[in-house]
Amino acid sequence: MKSKPLRLLLVGGARPNFMKIAPLLRALRARPARFIPRLVHTGQHYDAAMSDVFFTEFGLPEPDLHLGAGSATHAVQTARIMESFEKVLLAEPPDWVIVVGDVNSTVACSLVASKMSPPVPVAHVEAGLRSRDRAMPEEINRIITDSLSDLLFTTSADADRNLRAEGIDRRRIHRVGNLMIDTLRRHLRSADGAAVMREHGIVRPYALLTLHRPSNVDDPDVLRRIFVALEEVGKDLPIIFPVHPRTLSALGRFGLGGGNDRNGSAVRRIQPLGYLDFLHLQKRAALVLTDSGGIQEETSILGVPCLTLRDNTERPVTITHGTNRLVGTDPHRIVAAARQALRRPGRRKRTIPLWDGRAAGRIVQVFARIQEKGR
Ligand code: UD1
Repeated sequence: MKSKPLRLLLVGGARPNFMKIAPLLRALRARPARFIPRLVHTGQHYDAAMSDVFFTEFGLPEPDLHLGAGSATHAVQTARIMESFEKVLLAEPPDWVIVVGDVNSTVACSLVASKMSPPVPVAHVEAGLRSRDRAMPEEINRIITDSLSDLLFTTSADADRNLRAEGIDRRRIHRVGNLMIDTLRRHLRSADGAAVMREHGIVRPYALLTLHRPSNVDDPDVLRRIFVALEEVGKDLPIIFPVHPRTLSALGRFGLGGGNDRNGSAVRRIQPLGYLDFLHLQKRAALVLTDSGGIQEETSILGVPCLTLRDNTERPVTITHGTNRLVGTDPHRIVAAARQALRRPGRRKRTIPLWDGRAAGRIVQVFARIQEKGR
């Protein structure tokens, strides 16, 4: 007898989730006899610029469910998502919950699923990443989510090792590659046509900057140090800075952060960008400065030098195999590393095993085997 299709509930909540969900949802929807995927949006990010634009660009369907969590403290945001997600699971329990990344939505929904009676099994995409910095809210989210997950999809060998060291059964771990890079490869050509440079009057060479980690933007001393470095690097080339909403409010509070246009500062603030515009700018940047996780991965594949303004990374493969360098927040170190990178212009082509645009297909294979067994 043929097994029933698997009912899979995918969870997305914040900007970096949508790049991972899009290729997976597409691959699952292509096999309707085997899978019934549904998408729940927790509403952790809710702005047009932080959420809606990605649905349009990736051709993602409207979410089947919207939890409308919104912004709040960690406890309140996580609790709101948990309360409403429990109702979703009670009303219509799926065969699996699939969570991605390390945001509050990821941990909230894993926790709810694993405490249902009977538990709903959880699959975690991008499992095993560890910065070993527990002051980072994402690190707490990663550790808890992985400890609760029944299936752990990893992007690199270091992630497998981290999970094994935490006692996770190797049969649960599947190294599949990187969904973020599936999305990057799929959209690289269309991003070439993006009008962002013309629209904002950006000319090469330029550096591209993103900042949003609480450890960098919520502490005025750290943020001030970073801007000392940026003004110095900005003497060599303009720095384009699409500003995350968290960072915008911090800059306002501390009276920092360059100008929104030509007011003398080399740091040029613009609105948060859509995926295609941002990819267009990343690919053409002489240098990227960031504290984002995903951008360390994307620059590695694009071959663009990346300076990570943090003391640690949960993505060491971007250093060993990619273009990433950890430079912390000391102004001298940032400026020296930037000048060094700019002395050697040109792209540095890199490959990372399994970051080939086919991660979604590998994940679907794993679920297809589960579906055949009739679970
Ligand atoms: C979250 C994730 C982080 C991820 C980042 C990408 C957690 C713990 N952190 O951080 O891992 O890298 O998203 O963006 O889950 N805001 C808006 N509009 C929005 C969303 C947020 O204005 O659509 C503002 C709110 O003022 C909010 C602030 O941004 O207070 C922070 O949002 P929040 O979701 O709490 O965390 P992020 O800093 O975005």
